[in-house]
Amino acid sequence: MHDKRVRVRIMLPHVFTWMPMPHLPQIPAHFIRRAYEVLENPQEQVNKNFELGITNQEYMDRKIIKDGKEVGSHCQVSFDLGEEWDRWVVENIHPVFDDTGVRLSWGDSGIGGPHVDNPGKIRFFYLLERGGEDTETVFYYHPDIPFIFNMDEWNEKYPFSYDNVDELHVVERAQFPLHTWILFNGYTLHGVENIDTTKRRINFNVSVRPETFTHCVRPI
Ligand SMILES: [Fe+2]
Repeated sequence: MHDKRVRVRIMLPHVFTWMPMPHLPQIPAHFIRRAYEVLENPQEQVNKNFELGITNQEYMDRKIIKDGKEVGSHCQVSFDLGEEWDRWVVENIHPVFDDTGVRLSWGDSGIGGPHVDNPGKIRFFYLLERGGEDTETVFYYHPDIPFIFNMDEWNEKYPFSYDNVDELHVVERAQFPLHTWILFNGYTLHGVENIDTTKRRINFNVSVRPETFTHCVRPI
């Protein structure tokens, strides 16, 4: 069948949190199997977030305040899925990207602390396992911090983060759909709450610079 897809350059709205991308294809089963193989022994794999300088051990060990108590914070570890996956992403999700792979939420507390993604980026994000029935992504606001944080001027080896959740206003609580691509604005202060520590939270990720973002349209 003749493919009538057309790519158009789209200026994203400056302020958005996330939006569903249900027109993008679900991830084929063999990549899901590959992801589970990689996640069988995550400690033996290379954490790309360290390799790329996106996070460091200090950030992984951070403590946050929630409901007046000091607790640890979940953090993402990220793993490569190989060239076949990269090619599939180019052909089906976005033609250029900074980084892609499968990511696991790591830690023994019930919360992933507020942070802005490092470096500045938007993400195509595909949730494979939620990390519990009640787990939700939370977008926050602090009156002294721009809602869209300028990560491009943040020259540190770890993400900008805010450690006292009690001082933040909640802008939105979201439960992303499973097995569906969404577009996520990583320039916002966000975190994950209500993680069931007996469950895993797993997602596929494609990081894209906003200035390269194009949108695929297909006449119907
Ligand atoms: Fe994030």
